[in-house]
Amino acid sequence: MGKPRAIELFAGVGGFRLGLERGGWDVVWSNQWEPSTRRQHASEIYTTHFGDVGHTNRDIQHVLDDVEAGTYRIPDHDLLVGGFPCQDYSVARVLSQATGIAGQKGVLWWEILRLLRHSRPRFVVLENVDRLLKSPANQRGRDFAVMLSCLSHEGYVVEWRVLNAAEYGFPQKRRRVFIVGYLSDELPIRVSPSKWITQEGILARAFPVREANEAFQVDTGLDPDIVLSPDLKSLSDEFGVGAKVTPFSNSGLMIDGNVWTRRVNPFFEHRSTVLSDVLELEDEVPERFFISDSDLDRWKYLKGSKNEDRVHRASGTPYHYSEGAIPFPDAVDQPARTILTGEGGSTPSRFKHVIRTESGRLRRLTPVELERLNGFPSGWTDVTGISDGRRAYMMGNALVVGLVQSIGEQLLPHAKSTLTPTSEVHTKAVAANS
Ligand SMILES: C[S@@+](CC[C@H](N)C(=O)[O-])C[C@H]1O[C@@H](n2cnc3c(N)ncnc32)[C@H](O)[C@@H]1O
Repeated sequence: MGKPRAIELFAGVGGFRLGLERGGWDVVWSNQWEPSTRRQHASEIYTTHFGDVGHTNRDIQHVLDDVEAGTYRIPDHDLLVGGFPCQDYSVARVLSQATGIAGQKGVLWWEILRLLRHSRPRFVVLENVDRLLKSPANQRGRDFAVMLSCLSHEGYVVEWRVLNAAEYGFPQKRRRVFIVGYLSDELPIRVSPSKWITQEGILARAFPVREANEAFQVDTGLDPDIVLSPDLKSLSDEFGVGAKVTPFSNSGLMIDGNVWTRRVNPFFEHRSTVLSDVLELEDEVPERFFISDSDLDRWKYLKGSKNEDRVHRASGTPYHYSEGAIPFPDAVDQPARTILTGEGGSTPSRFKHVIRTESGRLRRLTPVELERLNGFPSGWTDVTGISDGRRAYMMGNALVVGLVQSIGEQLLPHAKSTLTPTSEVHTKAVAANS
């Protein structure tokens, strides 16, 4: 039997594709377009490694216009994946089924939904910042509720988990929410929602949790914690109004608009990798990565604690500013902090990593080290004419490849099995084996 087929939206430099291919999948189509720059570095890097076949470097909105007009065809696929921005997912109005929902233009979630409606893949894996679970500030959890509800309308069961890569052995404390959806007849759920969340689900198998053998097992958890209004417009208007915190914990399951959500803790017994595991030899690191004496005080100030009066530059309003210190230099015997898109370049910054070398000098991380922190092969982003800063930007946008690989491996047997007798389809969780 051939490998199951995936397509990749918002492909960047191909983090999802690397993870999926390592997990036994074929990626047959991809889309990547950077709206803010003329040169398309990410797409260039992507095609350097994976070739041009099945890759599109155009705004996804235009691609899908062509798909709907019948002038462009995306190959058949079992799985759709993508990492996309946390934006405002509010719904202005719900139009007829045929024309769909009116959300804000340029909000990429609606493009994902458009493609899901068109091609109805059996499985979906999405990645986003963990802030998605609690945004926006004036309606905690609304955006995630809208997303879940849309997926429910399309017939998907959805699991999610906030994963800190370092808690599963990777050398970076990158925290992201992974959302796994499947058409409800693909994975019949025969256990309680709690057991699915902590033991049997795709994410629980890929990333074991401590609670698997503890309290949650005696909790049959049949009553949902949240019931999403099937009316998207009122869900969008009303969800989270007046709430101080989001109702969505770091893991959960949604079936037919019913949501069960649990706070879970990672269970990982193997050796963790740390920052020192990815470092290049000091004498191979170019001089431009070392901190100059003249910049040292600025670095120390930015990394240090502050408790000072300031004046707002634009309005002239005085205000008080305080923040704590962050480690300077960064500890190399621990996983690194999250790589941000601004990690590159020599300008001093609070958030860039700085390490002390064996000889006692201070330096920033190289592009190769940043690639390794995400699990990419060394030199992955090194295309002709690209700057160190741009390479760092790509890694700030990317993801931890090994996390995708684990999810891909767990989905694989389900994707390979085409035999799912309809009579056994369960869209409701049952407590049978709980
Ligand atoms: C969070 S990044 C995903 C990174 C990717 N997972 C990786 O491993 O590199 C989102 C990507 O979406 C791309 N993007 C933004 N707007 C887009 C659009 N309208 N059409 C297609 N791609 C877009 C950005 O250029 C960026 O590379």
